Amino acid sequence: MEADTNIQRKIMIVGARSKVAEAIVRMVRAELNASVILVSSADNLVGDIDGVTLYTVKHHDYKQFKEIAIKELPSVMINCAAMTDVDACEIDKEGAWSSNVTLVDNFLRAGKAVDAHCLHFSTDYIFDGNKGPYGENDIPNPINYYGRTKLASENICHSSGVDCTILRTNIVYGHSTYRHIDFVHWVIGRLDMGKPFKVVDDQFGNPTFVDDIALAVKKVIEKKRIGIYNISGKDYCNRYEFAKNIAKVFSYDSTLINAMTSEELGQKSPRPKRAGLINLKAETDLQMKFCDSIAGVTTLRHQMQMWGK
Ligand SMILES: NC(=O)c1ccc[n+]([C@@H]2O[C@H](COP(=O)([O-])OP(=O)(O)OC[C@H]3O[C@@H](n4cnc5c(N)ncnc54)[C@H](OP(=O)(O)O)[C@@H]3O)[C@@H](O)[C@H]2O)c1
Repeated sequence: MEADTNIQRKIMIVGARSKVAEAIVRMVRAELNASVILVSSADNLVGDIDGVTLYTVKHHDYKQFKEIAIKELPSVMINCAAMTDVDACEIDKEGAWSSNVTLVDNFLRAGKAVDAHCLHFSTDYIFDGNKGPYGENDIPNPINYYGRTKLASENICHSSGVDCTILRTNIVYGHSTYRHIDFVHWVIGRLDMGKPFKVVDDQFGNPTFVDDIALAVKKVIEKKRIGIYNISGKDYCNRYEFAKNIAKVFSYDSTLINAMTSEELGQKSPRPKRAGLINLKAETDLQMKFCDSIAGVTTLRHQMQMWGK
């Protein structure tokens, strides 16, 4: 049964400075009849946050989520917080577990206390990358610590007894007021320097525009869908190909970009090579039409003209 779209909602978003959270706030404020509660480790949020209630919760103080939820009684709670630096997770395993698992456990306990619909983000890095792109029902087998923590967070969602939606995504790019550097911004920075540089051509995924993620979230809330949904861009490509597309959209000299292997790059933490996600379920059940990377990066270019880099 489709949910009532005119319902007055209160939506609590944890990890308010994440780029995904910023896009969701823009979307729900424009498209849903909702008041927004933001939870962040920072007390200096900027941007269009008039009428938004802000709570500051320092890292590791996650028990406060429940106090906030009981005070505000949100009907929907969205967790965007995570330690997303894959190499940092390999080095600081304790910090990664705290941010990616303990935080989620507390988020879901808070959701359970107020009977909220809880949305949580996960990743294609829960897979080993031997035969991607992956469907919702493929068997996870993480090869790095970030992937292990995100799989653990999914398992907590399943056992929580909460109405929970897991949104798996990958290679997210988009506007960040807080200058969270994604792959697109990194490539633009390198092209700006005007010197040749190398990008791996053996790591595959679907670059996903953050505004598409926000639209999927709106639909999941309206339709009250629970379970796992892959939320990923239209094209399946490697990082080298994506970088070439970025250069094309921003009219840079794409011959500055050269290919290399993951072995040559030598990242601290191993990456799944043929990763990525099949988004058929979201396309059919949520009626999503995901943009390809040329379209998404072109929209981002327009946004950068309005909002700055
Ligand atoms: N970016 C990607 O390519 C990608 C790919 C697949 C899945 N995802 C998932 O999508 C979700 C949102 O990702 P995002 O890229 O929007 O995140 P992001 O821009 O990196 O922001 C993450 C936010 O999480 C909070 N946080 C909590 N513990 C942290 C810690 N130890 N270190 C840093 N930040 C911490 C912070 O929020 P406050 O500053 O407000 O406290 C931070 O702004 C995450 O669950 C991520 O795993 C992202």
